[in-house]
Amino acid sequence: MYRLLRPLIHRIDAETAHRGTIGALKMLPPRRPPDFPQMLAIDVAGLSFPSPVGLAAGFDKDAEIADAMLGLGFGFVEVGTITPVAQPGNPKPRLFRLAEDQAVINRMGFNNAGFAPALQRLRKRQRSGIVGVNIGANKDSVDRIADYASGVTAMSGVADYLAVNISSPNTPGLRGLQDEGALGELLSAVRNARLPGGPPVFLKVAPDLDAEDPQRIVRAAIDHRIDGLIVANTTLSRPALRSRFAGEAGGLSGAPLKPLALEALRAFRAASGGAIPLIAVGGIASADDAWARIRAGASLVQLYTALVYEGPGLARRVANGLADCLCRSEMASLAEAVGSEDD
Ligand SMILES: Cc1cc2nc3c(=O)[nH]c(=O)nc-3n(C[C@H](O)[C@H](O)[C@H](O)COP(=O)(O)O)c2cc1C
Repeated sequence: MYRLLRPLIHRIDAETAHRGTIGALKMLPPRRPPDFPQMLAIDVAGLSFPSPVGLAAGFDKDAEIADAMLGLGFGFVEVGTITPVAQPGNPKPRLFRLAEDQAVINRMGFNNAGFAPALQRLRKRQRSGIVGVNIGANKDSVDRIADYASGVTAMSGVADYLAVNISSPNTPGLRGLQDEGALGELLSAVRNARLPGGPPVFLKVAPDLDAEDPQRIVRAAIDHRIDGLIVANTTLSRPALRSRFAGEAGGLSGAPLKPLALEALRAFRAASGGAIPLIAVGGIASADDAWARIRAGASLVQLYTALVYEGPGLARRVANGLADCLCRSEMASLAEAVGSEDD
């Protein structure tokens, strides 16, 4: 069905098409998440995920359609990035489909409606299915670290997990929070803002890192009791691309990010030796891609750009394909497969 509709949808400007998709999903009657094969279940950071295939941040920035996406077959959904107050993001156009490259370039710049409306929507949920909240800092904030701390305080009651996003390339200076001194300060503030019994906190990192960064970030994360690392956000680098939009500024995602994101994942696995859970994202478009990340050390995977090209049935197809991979490998559980490429 999506194959038939795709040429029509792709004739519309990318951001308008995305808004249309959100509008359509909001109108769908509520659908219960599907029953996943039991072997796909995995426990990470104290949460029981029914499937390791999640929706990456940025698709549902304002937490409008989390339950609809769970109903489409995602094992978990990450909403956001949400900043304390509403902001418009960068001028349009700011979202480009690179169809020849199965990729997207975006420079959205954290356009979102702020904490208040998202909180209201998330409070109304039945809380069936795992929804993480990805938090960020306002572009004009005078104290970005305080924005993250307030995100932890505000969202802890409605989030199954929190994702601290310091890796988006479209807010000037944000990635600087990954640097040594700033990261320690940020993670201390996040730790102090956490409530006893509150949700686990993941840290989302960029794929554009120096060789020594994974070791340093893993150490800081473990020291500050971060529960997992999401590897990775979009890249500022430009591998060979064919599309006429290749020169657009912003973060690149989709197929060309795949080798870079896998390399970053392996670097974080080597640096951590399995001491902290890893969530893989970047260019995942099939069960084979997801299986490769799990074998490289990811306990969970997320995707976004491939949905643009493969349509809404993708989450279920990847989950079913992963169950086949697991059967073929003769492993009893997904947990056994995590990091097994080193065995
Ligand atoms: C249009 C768009 C908007 C995004 N917005 C966010 C965001 O707000 N916060 C975030 O952490 N990541 C954001 N991302 C990054 C994705 O979550 C993901 O890390 C990245 O796209 C790589 O995965 P993919 O290749 O499967 O898309 C965005 C990606 C795209 C394409």
